[in-house]
Amino acid sequence: MTQTTASSTLKAHPVTVPAHPVWPEMSPEEKSATKNRIKALLKERNAVLVAHYYTDGDLQELAEETGGCVSDSLEMARFGTQQSADTLVVCGVRFMGETAKILNPEKHILMPDLNATCSLDEGCPADEFTAFCDQHPDHTVVVYANTSAKVKARADWVVTSGIALPIIQHLAECGEKIIWAPDKHLGRYVQKQTGAEMLFWNGSCVVHEEFKSVALERIKRLHPEAAVLVHPESPEEVIDQADVVGSTTTLINAVKEMDNKTFIVATDGGIFHKMKQLAPGKKLIEAPTAGEGATCESCAHCPWMGMNALQNLEQVLLTGNNEIQIDPAIREQAVKSIQKMLDFSSNMKK
Ligand code: 13P
Ligand code: SF4
Repeated sequence: MTQTTASSTLKAHPVTVPAHPVWPEMSPEEKSATKNRIKALLKERNAVLVAHYYTDGDLQELAEETGGCVSDSLEMARFGTQQSADTLVVCGVRFMGETAKILNPEKHILMPDLNATCSLDEGCPADEFTAFCDQHPDHTVVVYANTSAKVKARADWVVTSGIALPIIQHLAECGEKIIWAPDKHLGRYVQKQTGAEMLFWNGSCVVHEEFKSVALERIKRLHPEAAVLVHPESPEEVIDQADVVGSTTTLINAVKEMDNKTFIVATDGGIFHKMKQLAPGKKLIEAPTAGEGATCESCAHCPWMGMNALQNLEQVLLTGNNEIQIDPAIREQAVKSIQKMLDFSSNMKK
């Protein structure tokens, strides 16, 4: 099968990476008082929290203690659709809030900070992406969930890391040629696994791109007993060294279920909170972001995920500000490609 690639010819869109936010320290008493006020506000507003595994541990705990959810982006999307609450407060990044609004137009979707975007989303402007798709009208357009509502509206399918492989496998079996955007590393991984014919957008995650393969080889030699867990947004040479490659949920389950006592983890450090909770006896080592060619802009902590904190969560619940709005015409298109993913996932479960 011919495998073509476009990412070598397409220029990557420049992305400005903000500094990681620094939040004022709270004393244990202040923290507990703030959490209690947030709990009361959630009740008052008939709101639930939907948080990602990369957000601050206090937010994750609060979500779980109040009947919300902490999960990967696929489950975050599904969870919102199963709630009767009037308001969903999405602690994560902008595309997660937008997906929630697209799937639940009747609900209020609030986010602690609307500037919490994602380098993949930023690196795939809708007008340029549409022009790219228009040049290849015989291709099925598959986009990662980490994209804007407009990009989703141009797509035939939306996928997350948790379901990308089976969906691309299915499309390849149907003989479809695929445009894949925006993450070239995840795209290449999926292509390698499935043999699908794919054209790639030239995007990447600034956090996962920093993992270094040579330094990882060294750490592996120091810990030969460790299992290596890698999120597929990482570079190919890092993925090639993995024992487990998958979504944040897959990596968390691996720590819980595998017999290994030590794990080297190549994904955002926020995931360690849940891993430690579920497997307290296990040793977790951050995969290296230093080493040859290191820039360490993020040091394995997504600056946009870091924009979520107890302080601004309380503020949005008090004010009702930071509500996600989506143009109804865009929503009408985007919901189709997201719903296809959710339906595919439900059929797989059956
Ligand atoms: P998951 O869907 O695996 O949680 O990934 C979302 C993400 O943004 C990873 O960087
Ligand atoms: Fe986007 Fe990377 Fe942050 Fe995930 S970790 S939200 S892909 S920038």
